[in-house]
Formats: sequence, C-alpha cells, structure tokens
Amino acid sequence: MSDPEVLDRVETADHEGAAFGVYVHWPFCLSKCPYCDFNSHVRHAGIDEARFARAFAAEIATTAARIGPRTVSTIFLGGGTPSLMRPATVAAVLDAVARHWTVAADVEVTLEANPTSVEAERFRGFRAAGVNRVSLGVQALDDAALKALGRLHTAEEALAAVAIARAVFDRYSFDLIYARPGQTAAEWQSELIRALGEAAEHLSLYQLTIEPDTPFALLEDAGKLSVPGETTARHLFDLTQEVCAAAGLPAYEVSNHARPGAECRHNLVYWRYAEYAGIGPGAHGRLDVDGRRIATAGEKRPELWLERVEIGGHGLVVDETVTRAEQADEFLLMGLRLTEGIDPRRFARIAGRPLDPARVAELTTLGFVEVTRAGRLRVTRAGFPVLDAVVADLAA
Ligand SMILES: C[S@@+](CC[C@H](N)C(=O)[O-])C[C@H]1O[C@@H](n2cnc3c(N)ncnc32)[C@H](O)[C@@H]1O
Ligand code: SF4
Repeated sequence: MSDPEVLDRVETADHEGAAFGVYVHWPFCLSKCPYCDFNSHVRHAGIDEARFARAFAAEIATTAARIGPRTVSTIFLGGGTPSLMRPATVAAVLDAVARHWTVAADVEVTLEANPTSVEAERFRGFRAAGVNRVSLGVQALDDAALKALGRLHTAEEALAAVAIARAVFDRYSFDLIYARPGQTAAEWQSELIRALGEAAEHLSLYQLTIEPDTPFALLEDAGKLSVPGETTARHLFDLTQEVCAAAGLPAYEVSNHARPGAECRHNLVYWRYAEYAGIGPGAHGRLDVDGRRIATAGEKRPELWLERVEIGGHGLVVDETVTRAEQADEFLLMGLRLTEGIDPRRFARIAGRPLDPARVAELTTLGFVEVTRAGRLRVTRAGFPVLDAVVADLAA
C-alpha cells in the first residue's frame, strides 16, 4: 500500500516555475452592504493604518521565510474596500512583497475600489505606489437599484470613477450585480450594453446571491425581497453570455468576461490551482511547503488578527495539509469554473486516479460537459448553471 504522505507530495512539484500570487485583504468599508458576506467591517473610530501596514509586512516576511524564494506574478489588494487605504499604506505593502520575493517585471497589481469620488481621487496615488489595474464595484447603472443595494454612490459617480480609472490605469475592470429583485431581461440587456460601452477589456458580472445571515436573507425570509426564479436567472445568464461575446468580451469564467488575453491573471492563479499567499484578516492561501500543499486562513476579526501578528508574526487560524483527495476536489471545483476547463491528466496526477470515464460520458450525453480536441474537459453553457452538481458528480 502506498504511503499517504508520499501521495500528498506528488502534485506540488507540478507548480514549480508556475504563477505565484499574493492576496492582501483590507477588511474595512464605509458601510456594510446588505447583500455582502465578505469579511468587511465598519470602524467609525478610525483605523491605525500604519499599524496595519507593519502587520501586513510582518505576515509577508513570515510567509516568505516559510516558503522560500518565489517570483510574484500577481498581487491583488481585495476587500472590504482597499481604495480606502492611503496610497502610502498600499506602497508599504507592495514594498514588503518586493523585499521578500522577486517581483516579475510584468507583475499584475490589482486594487479593488469603490466608486465614490473620494476614493477615485486617490487613483493617481495608487498608481504611483505600484498598482497597475483597478477593479471597480459599480454594481448597477441605475440609481434606484444602487439605493436598493445599499450603495453609497450614484450611477453618475460610478461612471465618473470609471472615467478616472480609464485615464489613470492601463487596465481596469468593473463589477455589476444582476438578477436583482424585479429586474427584467430587457432592463438588464440595456444596462449591460451601456456597461459594455464603458468597459475596456474586462467585466465581472455576478448574479445576486442571497447569502445566509445577511440583511437581504432576513428580508427574503420575511417575504419582503424576492430574486428572479431559476428560469429567469438562467435566461439572464444566457443573455449575459451572448451580449458580452458579441461585444468581444466572452466569458472566461462563470462570472468573468474579458477580451482574450486580458483576463485577470490573479484570479487565474486561483482557478488554475496555482500557489498563492493570503495576507491579512480572513485571507486564504494555498502554499507549497516542503512538497506539501498547505491551506491557510487568517483570523477574520481585524483587531484580533493584528494582535496575533504582533505576537507571533502571523495571524493564521487555519494551517493544514491539503490531502491528495482534497486537492483533487479543489482542482475540479476551481478549474471547471473556467471556459478553458481542466487537463484530465493533471487531475489524474493530483488524485492518483483518472476521472471516471462512465461519469464523463454520462455528463457529456446530458450536454453538461465536453472534451475539447486538445483533450481538455470543460463545462458547457448548459452545464454552468448546474456547475456544483457537475463537480460533485465528477469528484465522487
Ligand atoms: C469583495 S466584493 C467588493 C469590492 C468593493 N468593496 C465593492 O463593493 O465595490 C467584490 C464583488 O463581489 C460582488 N458581490 C458581493 N456580494 C455579492 C452577492 N451577495 N451577490 C453577488 N455579487 C456579490 C460585488 O459585485 C462586489 O463588487
Ligand atoms: S460589497 Fe464591498 S463595500 Fe459593500 S460591504 Fe461588501 S466589501 Fe464592503
């Protein structure tokens, strides 16, 4: 019988020379949106940014000491609302990354930004700090919808922020949320066409998800909010695919659209199951250490995370080996979100067994997956709405 430890080591060698991403989480927002379950907190008393900058640098140093030399291909400052950080704080974080690892000459450095005018004013400062791509949370181009989503900006302000992003950065993207309460297909189509007129190379288009324990979930339970049903949501999804593809921004992932070659390279690190460090409160990482794949997650509460870092050099509350079977599941879950799909040979190397041909055949007959001429397995348009079930079936 094989030694499970040795089995757990096999796949990580595959990552050598591959992409390495650094995710940094800024956990604060001006207010909490009623649909959002991200690790974001409101602090009216102010935030000691210098203290956070020191803690980020300390956690980066600890991670680098643990995993050793790497070439960083992407950095993503996500949130929360990282555009509330002072440019000097962003610069300090990027400097810390560069002190401990080699930074690729073509590194992609993305910052998530909310489109209020105050934040847009900082864009030049972020660029000077080293950011070269922004992702703006526009969410809707309709003031009533923005109000219903609890957003602090109008559509006009959002478009003004997009214009500043276009002027300051070579690359920008923005997010919209669709399948909102009461939204018709015709309304979404015209909003999307307007958005495509403002987009350059990338758009993230998310169907509204009612996350447990959010104010939206309570409203839904009380019968005061209802999102479009399955058939309508499916129709809106199909419409989104068609309109974006016709405009030259086909989907490359379930909710992400880009001009070919302009995909968000950082998100590809996750979906292609490459290695990434998670820095900051609640950040997740997947590290390759001594031939093992390690899952990490930071303490979510910002002040407790700070204390942990100041005492022990890191704020991790999860730090465990991902078994070979778990890696195989994660690889499928991530990779099948991509329109490029997965390489079944890589699955076999990770899992230590090939995909079950009978299951692949059955899902192919149902029209949910297809095998490309190059031998990759990918989910079809019809399969995306039932992606979780497809992954569960293949992983079983
Ligand atoms: C980390 S969040 C927010 C970034 C930024 N703070 C903002 O709100 O503009 C990234 C994106 O996830 C999307 N999102 C968050 N909660 C969602 C939900 N419940 N359903 C669908 N999309 C959601 C939003 O489009 C949002 O821009
Ligand atoms: S959607 Fe963005 S701004 Fe709103 S609470 Fe979540 S992270 Fe903060």
